[in-house]
Amino acid sequence: ATVTLKPEKSKKISGHLTGIFFEDINYAADGGLYAELIQNRDFEYAPADRGNDRNWNSTHSWALTDASSATFSVETLRPLHPNNPHYAVLEVKSAPGAGLVNGGFDGIAVKKGEKYDFSLFGKVLEGKGGKVAVKLSDKDGTVIGQASVTITSKDWKRQKAVLTVTADRTDASLGIYPQEAGKFALDMVSLFPQSTFKGRKNGLRADLAQALADLHPRFVRFPGGCVAHGDGVDNIYDWKGSIGPLEARKPLRNLWGYHQTRGLGYFEYFRFCEDIGAEPLPVLAAGVPCQNSGTCAHHSTDELTCMGQQGGIPLEEMDKYIQDVLDLIEYANGDARSTEWGKKRAEAGHPKPFNLKFIGIGNEDMITDVFEERFTLIYNAVRQKHPEITVIGTVGPFHEGTDYEEGWKLATRLGVPVVDEHYYVEPGWLIHNQDYYDRYDRRKPKVYLGEYASHVSGRRNNIETALTEALYLTSIERNGDVVLMTSYAPLLAKEGHTQWNPDLIYFNNTEVKPTVGYYVQQMYGQNAGTEYIPAEVSLSNPSDAVRKRIGVSVVKDDAGDYIVKLANLLPVKVSSRVKLEGISPAGASASATLLAGNPQSEEVKPVSSSFVVEGQEFGYEMPAYSFTVIRVRQG
Ligand code: AHR
Repeated sequence: ATVTLKPEKSKKISGHLTGIFFEDINYAADGGLYAELIQNRDFEYAPADRGNDRNWNSTHSWALTDASSATFSVETLRPLHPNNPHYAVLEVKSAPGAGLVNGGFDGIAVKKGEKYDFSLFGKVLEGKGGKVAVKLSDKDGTVIGQASVTITSKDWKRQKAVLTVTADRTDASLGIYPQEAGKFALDMVSLFPQSTFKGRKNGLRADLAQALADLHPRFVRFPGGCVAHGDGVDNIYDWKGSIGPLEARKPLRNLWGYHQTRGLGYFEYFRFCEDIGAEPLPVLAAGVPCQNSGTCAHHSTDELTCMGQQGGIPLEEMDKYIQDVLDLIEYANGDARSTEWGKKRAEAGHPKPFNLKFIGIGNEDMITDVFEERFTLIYNAVRQKHPEITVIGTVGPFHEGTDYEEGWKLATRLGVPVVDEHYYVEPGWLIHNQDYYDRYDRRKPKVYLGEYASHVSGRRNNIETALTEALYLTSIERNGDVVLMTSYAPLLAKEGHTQWNPDLIYFNNTEVKPTVGYYVQQMYGQNAGTEYIPAEVSLSNPSDAVRKRIGVSVVKDDAGDYIVKLANLLPVKVSSRVKLEGISPAGASASATLLAGNPQSEEVKPVSSSFVVEGQEFGYEMPAYSFTVIRVRQG
């Protein structure tokens, strides 16, 4: 292949082309990115979280060590906070002895020498109270970290201690052992590593957060996906319930079949975006829940059944809902002293604005009258009060063969600046639809490809899926004037708790396992440009089948480097010559990052090498089934 650049035809493209989609699916938040180690710390698990499973209740993950000398019950009288109505009551008849133990999320993983912040809210219900030992023990009962707190108050009071761990373990549990007989009320029992990402309190698991930062995402979309609009009006993600003191946050049923503490809430999402230099992209419901229905079942990959009446937030309650949307913008950007919600942000420790620029309204909702009415009200209100914010609408759920007709019509009519498209497809779809945005009517709204992924049978990802994503993204860069943003979905999945496949990163309590698709996203994220340089690609075999399996994209970044992306989905190597005449001085240093492997392979990592571009062109042999990013440095 000969690649001849046409710099005279270059065009500006979006500087936000690759970002990440974060949704609390597959235990991505509690038990995942959120570094809390105690499961059901708030005693708020409820059967309704999990299809009325009676074992999923306030006692879940907790056990009494000795039922003969103590009892454990759950009560709701005079709770710590009305949003957090359940708490544990531990009645110890003879002390010291029995304790209440939590096994974390599949065990508590701890590291030798590291410090862990323990805290709880406690009060004495009967007796005079006293010292309470806190012990981390391994499976054999060996204590590997301990401290104590004192509970003597008759009112709820927070107690804290630090535990230093003496051994590496993946299976530890945390026990609370009153040293005096009596009746104790306990709530919000927490254990956090001090070594969270960037050392943040109430922070994120360092290794997982780093894996996300390494993608160099230009934006982070949160909190979903379906989690954003919920599976009923009462399950819509209310952002206000996710901020403020942890004990006052409103836990929420997760439509993926578990519980959201929302310890990872809007404040933490904004802070994470700032920590990794990504734009925050909150997505709020358009006043309607998942597919406009209160009875949507979305508990397995790609199976979405919606029955019953279509519905949304009653129209008479929409003013309040719209105010919540406007308040979010004020929470993110409002003045810390003179605005109500800006003050709340400052109280949480962030007086400076978060500089919110984008807001998503709706998530692949069915474009019904119910949707249209509510979306239009929200959209007009945001546009009027905050013209500086770019609203991203939605064009509905994608089915192969449809083109989201109703969604496009509505968005075009309203003049919505950007719309969110989703597609989960097989590799062939990406190969055969590289012209999807070439054919795009440029007068219409711009596009955020908010969820996409390619999968082979068994809903797996491998080199074949990753390379088709890389290939397709060359066509996205080519259309980076209309496609402003993209995010692979879903992002995270905890082994043993996965509702959806494939995902970009699998993990367990101690390991992060990026997929091959992760490396494609990383190669794009770390090699993004803001100018697209069209190239003429001449192939010795220009058949349609060959042409569709070779992808070339050349961009220039803000530092002036030229970045050449070459995808080869053919079973044979392809020699190429890339001509840089008139744009790059001879003698430029270059690096090549290569991801290549057998199509079925799931375990390949990219390798990098460097070379010097001697003249004004260079030769490169694309291995069979490969994706290469070549960066030609200027200066
Ligand atoms: O990414 C998984 C799910 O796919 C999202 O929650 C939803 O928006 C889509 O249907």
